[in-house]
Amino acid sequence: MLTGLFKPLNPAIKDWRGRSVWIVGASSGIGAALASALLQAGARVAVSARRADRLQALIDSHPDCGQRACVVPFDVTDAQAWQAACETVWQAFGEIDLVVLGAARYDPQHAWNLNMQDVRASYELNVISMYEAVAQLTPRLLGQRHGSLAVIGSISGYTGLPRAVVYGATKAALQNFTETLYFDLAPKGIGVFLISPGFVQTPMTAKNDFEMPGLMTPDQAAVAIMRGLAKGQFEIRFPRGFANALRWISRLPYRWRFALLHRATKQ
Ligand SMILES: NC(=O)c1ccc[n+]([C@@H]2O[C@H](COP(=O)([O-])OP(=O)(O)OC[C@H]3O[C@@H](n4cnc5c(N)ncnc54)[C@H](OP(=O)(O)O)[C@@H]3O)[C@@H](O)[C@H]2O)c1
Repeated sequence: MLTGLFKPLNPAIKDWRGRSVWIVGASSGIGAALASALLQAGARVAVSARRADRLQALIDSHPDCGQRACVVPFDVTDAQAWQAACETVWQAFGEIDLVVLGAARYDPQHAWNLNMQDVRASYELNVISMYEAVAQLTPRLLGQRHGSLAVIGSISGYTGLPRAVVYGATKAALQNFTETLYFDLAPKGIGVFLISPGFVQTPMTAKNDFEMPGLMTPDQAAVAIMRGLAKGQFEIRFPRGFANALRWISRLPYRWRFALLHRATKQ
């Protein structure tokens, strides 16, 4: 009975040859690097985001893999577009082994200068579009009787952090959302992964004017994600040292937690 405690929480995905993956948020950064790495590992990959030219350029940069790739541009905040995109991807690949949901925005904000338009747009993109994704994807995955969903959250969801009054809260919501999805879907044979990156050098973090501890390249992030998928981990967090430290801090009593974060972030 105890052996169950050590079993991976998700189906481990080790060999990508012949697997079908759909990456949403693949026109730059982590999603683009993951799409490249998966194509190189032999997967069939569908890539989505709004900028079709960037998606096509990504696929064109892998001339040997073109026949295994599919470009499906759409806006994830558009419910009807989700439906059409699902139909296109399932028609192209027949079945899908993994969908990675990574489209998001980040606007550093403080309580004293909130831009409500950006607040609403962040929740719409970072959170509400995830519900749309799950509403569209779950019946198809259940119909196939296999496949996994991977939600890209962030270690900034672990605890309140300076400048993250909007972004951090959306990512905290995603952590709870993904944990709850696990309860709903894992018993039905559907894998549910939570990807929690630390700082990665992408267009999203280019606006940060502070030193980012543990900063990784998108290629390193892709390697970490594939390693976590191969182990069947529920949460794939990286870089390990920084992410584990923040997780540990987030469990301290508030007095100590706030003091440590105040000192570390100089805020
Ligand atoms: N970089 C980091 O340090 C870091 C840390 C923790 C978590 N993350 C998370 O990792 C994920 C990827 O971020 P990244 O750093 O790689 O940022 P990025 O390079 O800015 O990528 C964001 C992606 O989301 C897509 N996107 C944005 N709005 C969209 C919309 N309405 N419809 C469809 N696609 C949309 C963008 O493409 P289009 O503009 O072409 O639509 C782009 O492909 C995000 O969930 C982010 O929150 C990043």
